[in-house]
Amino acid sequence: MPTALITGATAGIGAAFARRLAADGFDLVLLARDSDRLAEAARELHDKYAVRTEVVVADLATDEGLKTAEERVRNGVDLLVNNAGFGNKGTFLNVPLSDELTMLRVHCEAVLRLTHAALPGMLERGRGGIINVSSVAAFATRGTYGASKAWVVSFSQGVAADIAGQADGKVRVMALCPGFVHTEFHERAQMDVTGIPDFMWLDQDKLVDAALRDLRRGVQVSVPGAQYKAIVGLSRLVPRELVGRLSSRTGRKYD
Ligand SMILES: NC(=O)c1ccc[n+]([C@@H]2O[C@H](COP(=O)([O-])OP(=O)(O)OC[C@H]3O[C@@H](n4cnc5c(N)ncnc54)[C@H](OP(=O)(O)O)[C@@H]3O)[C@@H](O)[C@H]2O)c1
Repeated sequence: MPTALITGATAGIGAAFARRLAADGFDLVLLARDSDRLAEAARELHDKYAVRTEVVVADLATDEGLKTAEERVRNGVDLLVNNAGFGNKGTFLNVPLSDELTMLRVHCEAVLRLTHAALPGMLERGRGGIINVSSVAAFATRGTYGASKAWVVSFSQGVAADIAGQADGKVRVMALCPGFVHTEFHERAQMDVTGIPDFMWLDQDKLVDAALRDLRRGVQVSVPGAQYKAIVGLSRLVPRELVGRLSSRTGRKYD
């Protein structure tokens, strides 16, 4: 059975990946910080889908957590979903510097280190996939969050280009750029999203479905949903300063 390791597997998009991959027959390695939630998710998925589930309790904002995660990834995974992430409450100068640095660690350093840990084994085995969860915020200027997610897109494209031509193209690296999805994300960041219209919300399961389809097709930057494909396409035509002004306001009201 192939094995998938998902970071941030206990909630939201990560949990949706876990359900879908278990249904597809993947054995799972679930990673997050909350050990009780991890154990519960592992039990539920095992019971429902009869797959092997393993948990890794690790805080990807700490060196110890990163080392634990790297070690498990090096032991062999067929699919790595670098999904763990969060938003900070407030604009740049209103967020403690330590929280901004933690964000860079979880969104960038963890993605880089786990990708680095996963790829040699995948290339040796001649197959594998890495999905790095970014955001449509990557295409706009939107504080440290948008900047970190833009890094994820650029990094993933760069690595995909670096390994092109190896393993017959059977090892794939893709950045996934979701728009708004109902998860714990906004509540954790105390964001007020009541003004976001219904059509802007993506369904978790459809998002995961589109992501896996795009990975199979060899897409390097996946933007699920017609509305977001249009927004990202348009954002390339509008002056960057204007995109930045609009996007730094949308969905950035805090409770
Ligand atoms: N929801 C959206 O609208 C949206 C849109 C675009 C992109 N995204 C991106 O999608 C990804 C998943 O977000 P989500 O919306 O599903 O959020 P979520 O519901 O809040 O889930 C976040 C997951 O990440 C884990 N996590 C957070 N910090 C961690 C850390 N330091 N170390 C290890 N695990 C950690 C959490 O578990 P523990 O707390 O137990 O660690 C949880 O399992 C993020 O990268 C986010 O930026 C979300």
